[in-house]
Amino acid sequence: MIDCGHNGSAQVSSSPLKALAMQAGWHFLLRRGSRILRDSARLVRTSARVGSTRQMALSAAPLCDKLLKRNTHTSVTPDLNRPRPKLASASQDHNTLKVQVRWRDGERDEFPYVWLRDNCQCPDCFLRSASSRLLRVAGLSTDVRPREVQVSNDGYFLKVVWENGHESTYVSDWLNERAFNPRQQSIYNNTYRLRPELWDADMAQRIPRASFDELMEDDAALLKLLECMEVLGFTVVSGARQEEGELQRLSERASHLVPSNYGTTFIVKDKKDASNVAYTSQGLDLHCDLVCLHYKPCVQLLHCISQFEGDGGDSILADSHRVALQMRELYPQKFRFLTDVLVNFRDVATDEGFEFDIIARRPMISVRADGEIKTVNMSTFGRDSHFGVSPNDAIRWYDAYVTFCELLYRPENHFTFKLEAGEILIMDNLRILHGRTAYEDTVEGVRRLEGGFWDWDMMRSRRRGLQRKLGGCSEISERAPMVILAMPERGWKCRVMAKSQGTCNRTLKRTANRYLRSFDISGLEVILQ
Ligand code: OGA
Ligand code: ZN
Ligand code: ZN
Repeated sequence: MIDCGHNGSAQVSSSPLKALAMQAGWHFLLRRGSRILRDSARLVRTSARVGSTRQMALSAAPLCDKLLKRNTHTSVTPDLNRPRPKLASASQDHNTLKVQVRWRDGERDEFPYVWLRDNCQCPDCFLRSASSRLLRVAGLSTDVRPREVQVSNDGYFLKVVWENGHESTYVSDWLNERAFNPRQQSIYNNTYRLRPELWDADMAQRIPRASFDELMEDDAALLKLLECMEVLGFTVVSGARQEEGELQRLSERASHLVPSNYGTTFIVKDKKDASNVAYTSQGLDLHCDLVCLHYKPCVQLLHCISQFEGDGGDSILADSHRVALQMRELYPQKFRFLTDVLVNFRDVATDEGFEFDIIARRPMISVRADGEIKTVNMSTFGRDSHFGVSPNDAIRWYDAYVTFCELLYRPENHFTFKLEAGEILIMDNLRILHGRTAYEDTVEGVRRLEGGFWDWDMMRSRRRGLQRKLGGCSEISERAPMVILAMPERGWKCRVMAKSQGTCNRTLKRTANRYLRSFDISGLEVILQ
């Protein structure tokens, strides 16, 4: 649980760390100690990745209702009931082409002239109803210079008069949220995308679960599901009716169904003249769905309407991003080969009268510009036999691929469980690979699943909207061990996060101490609770 502090009244803040410090009455720390808070955020994130072994029942874990109010609106009239960052002074520096700003707590930030001009909030430059810039590119130049910069007496506004007489006014907390410092940037990064927590086979002990009915009725439960999908990459929802149409109902609440060549939803069962290997009772290797589509579906849903009672028909899950990182670590050259060589993925069949021949060409492992794993494109049955490389490179590629598969199928990297009728498995199709053990149903037999896809953009949009509505993020996106940074001889102490699970304390303390050595403040202590 995140410790909400002793103060009963929730404070509004744009940052979890800020909110916690405010609740604890350490407002003075927010700026003066902001370097600590900033770096603590990094520490806490690192610790969060250490993970915990707690069973996560999404439906059971209550939202911490005093958590984190997020200020995401740009309002011209400041709401004076909220504690807000106040400006002390501002000056222009033509050498660096930036406005230097000092806050009332002594902290400093700097804002480039061109950025300030580009982001003028006046009605000529900004359309509030669309939250969008109106200022055209022709109005923009890096030569732009203020004639005058001025802070209002109450510290809530920065006014800039430009050389051509145009006037821009910026509200202090609008500016503060957009400050070019690591702390503010990490807050925005968290809005953009929640940090994934990669997992191994131990996940079998703490499968994240949610209740269909709660998701349908309770925004907090829905927010937890969406956050869990970003952090852990999958969830099992229970309590759906054992009939078709439940995915449609859930999708209207959470996102929307994205159609594919198999329709808006599709039935997975052992079919005669199957148009897909999944529509047989054979075992399925770990794979992601529809790699043949350039817009490979982001998230897959499989609603188990009825399950095969005998042995088989189990689901297998693996966190491919974790395995890809292992691959990079252990076999860097093979890893690079899998990120470089383009593979053809093809789907040719006729499904319910719809004939298709779809090809996408992509590497098996795809990496983002920032070095993080973007997706793993893996499908035994969807990979084409046409291979546009030399025979020697083909052998080299297979060697790397087989190594990757060996890693993937190590017992510590995947787990098996069986879906029950009425359960919906939701998986990040860009990250979680799924498979199935063979079963011996009769054709058109008992086992029947309804499948469909969601889209990450819409899911994250919904998550941001719910976070705004509910005033913050729920426990899962903030879970991290508690860290207290204290400097006894200076008499101040800052509780940064409250979350601890026995076994990870040692690791955390090690991390914290290592991290503290990089601090140039003697006497700073880390206390774990
Ligand atoms: C699928 C699939 C798994 C199952 O339809 O894509 O992987 O359990 N199905 O039938
Ligand atoms: Zn303007
Ligand atoms: Zn599949």
